[in-house]
Amino acid sequence: MIVKPAQSSNIKNILEKLNTFNSDPENGTTRVLFTEPEVEARKYIKEEMKKNGLVVREDSIGNIFATLEGTDPDLPPVWTGSHIDTVLKAGMFDGMAGVVAGIEAARLIKESKIPHKRNIEVIVYTSEEPTRFGLSCLGSRAMAGYLSLEQAKRLKDKQGNSLAEVLEGLGYDLSKFDEISFKKGEVFAAVELHIEQGAVLESMGLPIGIVDTISGPTKLEVSVYGKQSHAGGTPMNLRHDAFLACSEIALKVEKLAKKSSSKDTVATVGLVNVIPNASNVISGEVHFSLDIRDSDYEVKHKLIEELKDFTKQLEKSRGVTIKIRQINDDLPTKSDDRIIEIFENSCKEKNISYHKMVSGAFHDSMMVGKFAPIAMIFVPSKDGISHNPAEWTDYDDIAKGTDILADGLLKLSND
Ligand code: GLV
Ligand code: MN
Ligand code: MN
Repeated sequence: MIVKPAQSSNIKNILEKLNTFNSDPENGTTRVLFTEPEVEARKYIKEEMKKNGLVVREDSIGNIFATLEGTDPDLPPVWTGSHIDTVLKAGMFDGMAGVVAGIEAARLIKESKIPHKRNIEVIVYTSEEPTRFGLSCLGSRAMAGYLSLEQAKRLKDKQGNSLAEVLEGLGYDLSKFDEISFKKGEVFAAVELHIEQGAVLESMGLPIGIVDTISGPTKLEVSVYGKQSHAGGTPMNLRHDAFLACSEIALKVEKLAKKSSSKDTVATVGLVNVIPNASNVISGEVHFSLDIRDSDYEVKHKLIEELKDFTKQLEKSRGVTIKIRQINDDLPTKSDDRIIEIFENSCKEKNISYHKMVSGAFHDSMMVGKFAPIAMIFVPSKDGISHNPAEWTDYDDIAKGTDILADGLLKLSND
């Protein structure tokens, strides 16, 4: 009895169909949490899960669970999954590859008729991307007990709708919000296949990455208040230009990240809102995001403290006021050695070369790792590009990753 190899045509078909649920098809893929295309994509993926013999349920924040029952369903289950929401103008693989690989792996295990003790559950985590509510990993964060109903009432989108209101409007039962979270021991293991979103595997010519650490992100929202004034009438020495203060912070954080003692430090100013944003007006206010990540939590915090000291000096030198609000501050997550070993053995058995690596991108596994042993499989990203319409991973590479995933799920479910 063997698990047959994954069919890249199945993976391609589901990914291409998923990609039709898209609110901006002219510019890659955009599928934001609980917009119409995302709700339709959920319906489609649930149908696809049922077609493959899985039993589907959803929790109060919209995490989807599709179960392939084992011979001992009372044992803690083994999970695999990822997300189907996207950033704006994204590609069609980030998140989706992991969900589709999970469905294909479950199909292969079911069809192999090899007995497995534990239930295997394919999961779609709600909104890994922070696109709509500014906070990432909403579904897995709630599973880990780091997102309460009270917070869901406070989290607002650009239109002022709260996450709780949106969930309620779609018929989710908020009285069961407390039941979303899991305790340690309730999930035996959770594994996630994801595209690499970097160029390491491609540059090494390797088809598989095994993630040993997921960097922890900190997201800050920074507001600079200067003085809005006339671009012609205000001499250079009398300005309190909020945009220039923002620029200095952006350059400072780049410098700090580049000279960091950790090779995994990265820092990004990705969203900038300049007010009033006019060519002949010195900006009075700038609001911007700071995304800082590291596999070393201490190093990241030292950097943030240095940056805060710098903003204090800047307040004096430029006569501006700077306010910093922390949105999240996540710890790095270590993969479980035993699961890594299972993946390594599967690669060796199948004669597939692999590389152990750090994930600079965050993933739902980062949150799931708070209550369950986790590990991740990476498949190569063409040119290392992601969060971009040009994002691409060959279907054959996803199939190869799915073979390792299916093997791992089967071994873990009989562990
Ligand atoms: C997830 O998309 C991330 O920003 O790492
Ligand atoms: Mn992403
Ligand atoms: Mn992702």
